[in-house]
Amino acid sequence: MPEKIGHSIDGIEEYDNPIPAWLMWLLYVSIAIAVAYLVLYPGFWKGATGWNQATMYEREIKEASLKYASAGGTADLSAIINDPTAIARGQEIFAQNCMPCHGADATGGIGPNLTDNTWLYGGTPEEVVHTITNGTEKGMPTWKSQLGPKKIADVASYVLSLGRAR
Ligand code: HEC
Repeated sequence: MPEKIGHSIDGIEEYDNPIPAWLMWLLYVSIAIAVAYLVLYPGFWKGATGWNQATMYEREIKEASLKYASAGGTADLSAIINDPTAIARGQEIFAQNCMPCHGADATGGIGPNLTDNTWLYGGTPEEVVHTITNGTEKGMPTWKSQLGPKKIADVASYVLSLGRAR
């Protein structure tokens, strides 16, 4: 029988029982989880997994923009404009559709040079997408139905990457 604590209030006495083992284990496990969390995730430092809210946000925006682009909306260009995989996809699309007029290296032919900083219809991402989507009256075809918004966004990011390289 454990010792009594040795005081009595109104005749009620208290035993000096140890804290139950399950409660102690709950405490130890909680501490272990807390330590593991602070090693893996941002808290006292950036965390071993490299996870953080900003990169999660960017990834979700990128996924959503691609998803809604293929659903028929307009791709959020800022999310894919510097994306190497979008640029690589764009390069393939360019080789298949645009090369005959703009040249294999996009320096021009029937259509104008796309690698310089001179633009007939503007060189912002939105303007380039607009030109590719709607075409022009002087020979640039419209790609709206043939490529659709997602592929147009990809090929636009490729075209824009050409100008940036020099
Ligand atoms: C049938 C030939 C032809 C094809 C194919 C073609 N283009 Fe063009 N493109 C042109 C011509 C011609 C112009 C100039 C139009 C003008 O002066 O109005 C042009 C203009 C452009 C411009 C505007 C350049 C500027 O200075 O503002 C962009 C961007 C462009 N093309 C991208 C593309 C892309 C991307 C593709 C492939 C999806 C493509 N083009 C396919 C003929 C073509």
